Amino acid sequence: MPAHSDPLPLEHHAVLITGGARRVGAQVVRTLHAAGANVLIHYGTSAAAARALAAELNGMRGASVAVGQADLLDPDAPESLVEATVGAFGRLDILINNASTFYPTAVGRITVDEWDDLIGSNLKAPLFLCQAAAPRLRAQRGLIINIVDIHALRPLKGHPVYSIAKAGLAMLTRSLARELGPDIRVNGIAPGPVLWAEHDLDDSMKRDIVARTALKRSGSPQDIARTALFLIRDAPYISGQIIAVDGGRSI
Ligand SMILES: NC(=O)c1ccc[n+]([C@@H]2O[C@H](COP(=O)([O-])OP(=O)(O)OC[C@H]3O[C@@H](n4cnc5c(N)ncnc54)[C@H](OP(=O)(O)O)[C@@H]3O)[C@@H](O)[C@H]2O)c1
Repeated sequence: MPAHSDPLPLEHHAVLITGGARRVGAQVVRTLHAAGANVLIHYGTSAAAARALAAELNGMRGASVAVGQADLLDPDAPESLVEATVGAFGRLDILINNASTFYPTAVGRITVDEWDDLIGSNLKAPLFLCQAAAPRLRAQRGLIINIVDIHALRPLKGHPVYSIAKAGLAMLTRSLARELGPDIRVNGIAPGPVLWAEHDLDDSMKRDIVARTALKRSGSPQDIARTALFLIRDAPYISGQIIAVDGGRSI
């Protein structure tokens, strides 16, 4: 354990996280902020939650959290979020692509709008955010963490477009690790069931998922946040990897 007077490990580091107002993203924000980071919380529609979280954390450490609204399907969003982060904190060290849309798509009835939305939030926006952030990340020898899904490798029944998008995000992670090295590390975290979706999942489906998980329980957003902190702080020789945090669900 560091001595009490040691600086926090992420002190002065600036993080941009998408979809950080609620659920898993908010826990990642809390954990990295507690480790000393300054954070730009991007949100799409959850303005009240984003502002409340920022106010709470700024109450602990002044001017340590800013918020930025953008629809990630807007092509201008990536540049504007990078500029907002640098405007708030003067630098950008860590990009976390966490935002996502998730819902079933029935083959035979898949619409172009569903494709654009699921691919847009889970794959296209992360790519263009990585591209927009790369010069700033390179200057800091920083890193990117993409929140993928264990269903990038094994399709989730009833969710082909989501599974395709996350498979693309997995390849984006490995591909950009090559393209952006040696200055920028690029890794992914593939959650299993850490926080149930807010729709469409009845109790028997949840029991079935847990039963097929080696640890026989669901995880928590803190499991993802801890893994992000590990990748940032303790893994300087890891790049191009996607760590499954799934209680053994994918074995
Ligand atoms: N929860 C799990 O158990 C689980 C399992 C496997 C993988 N994952 C992955 O882990 C990450 C976090 O999971 P989660 O369940 O916390 O995610 P989530 O609640 O489904 O979504 C996170 C946020 O993404 C934002 N978002 C979506 N589309 C957007 C758009 N077009 N523009 C702007 N923001 C947009 C939303 O922000 P606003 O609310 O501000 O609109 C939303 O709150 C996701 O990448 C997810 O795929 C989660």
